[in-house]
Amino acid sequence: MNELKHLAIIMDGNGRWAKKRGFLRTNGHEVGALVVEDMCEYCINNNIEILSLYAFSTENWKRPKSEVDFLMNLLNKFLISRQEKFINNGIKFQTIGDITPFSDELKKQIKILKNLTQNNSRLKLNLAINYGGRDEITRAVKKLMQNNTEISENSIKQALDEPCDIDLLVRTGGEFRLSNFMLFQASYAEFAFTDTLWPDFNSGHLDIIVKDFKNKNRRFGGL
Ligand code: FPP
Repeated sequence: MNELKHLAIIMDGNGRWAKKRGFLRTNGHEVGALVVEDMCEYCINNNIEILSLYAFSTENWKRPKSEVDFLMNLLNKFLISRQEKFINNGIKFQTIGDITPFSDELKKQIKILKNLTQNNSRLKLNLAINYGGRDEITRAVKKLMQNNTEISENSIKQALDEPCDIDLLVRTGGEFRLSNFMLFQASYAEFAFTDTLWPDFNSGHLDIIVKDFKNKNRRFGGL
């Protein structure tokens, strides 16, 4: 049975979910944010140590300003409303990605939630915001060069926002692509793609994927 230490999810399909119901795309994001809780609970109950969720990419700034503003506002509300839950459930909140372009208010709420949950150890939740895999690798290499550290596969890995390899990478919403998500960490990940749109995705769907993952023959290039 394979150990599942690091689960990563590309949460896709919010817009289509909303459109199908005649709602605004942003309603899809709102419902999508609620699914995060179910995923955290599943990870805690199944001893998964790290959950990385792709919430906003370095490319998502290209969306209409109204949608970007909505997502920023939703993120802010998410950070504030989850404080108690994360503390009580032992979730350590982290972000991956470059948060420098965010508003001062958003940065403040990120800092507060990180500080409040820094000693928690049941689950590390990495929320990927203004995240791009290429950007993460570039920032890591720049950091090493600034510190005069030798460039090696291992030093780059350790300088990433999240150094741990992904065991299982799930993408909802029916597309078969990586969209610049955790390129370095996904090198030997198992992939699972599902047509289910993110707001419809739940722990039952995830459990089927995880059970399948556990029985996979992972060879990491060996025999
Ligand atoms: C992809 O769906 C989803 C996003 C770009 C945003 C992800 C955001 C959430 C799941 C909710 C916010 C989460 C938190 C934690 C605040 P899409 O808009 O690309 O959907 P589409 O492919 O159907 O258009």
